[in-house]
Amino acid sequence: MYGRFAYQTQDRELMELFKELARAESGHRNGLRRTIRSVEGPSRPVVFFCPLCGWEIDYGSAPEVGAQRTCPMCPGRFALRLTENGDWTLERLAPR
Ligand SMILES: [Fe+2]
Repeated sequence: MYGRFAYQTQDRELMELFKELARAESGHRNGLRRTIRSVEGPSRPVVFFCPLCGWEIDYGSAPEVGAQRTCPMCPGRFALRLTENGDWTLERLAPR
């Protein structure tokens, strides 16, 4: 779209601005593609933020349903569950 605007305008400054915006959007597009590839990739670890303290709880890149972890920073204990939509979620467990 910005490239088309740059081609259509007669104003030299606007043309340069639209060209710059087109280059910036191209960078955004490439960054989003990299992010999507990394999320869809098989080695993406399952990491949650602890709902009690906010610290990271890492279940690794090949977790199993029911895997249990204790938060490294607080007494929170959680089991990994799968929702009906196929998303991972945490179930809080009773403290030991
Ligand atoms: Fe925690």
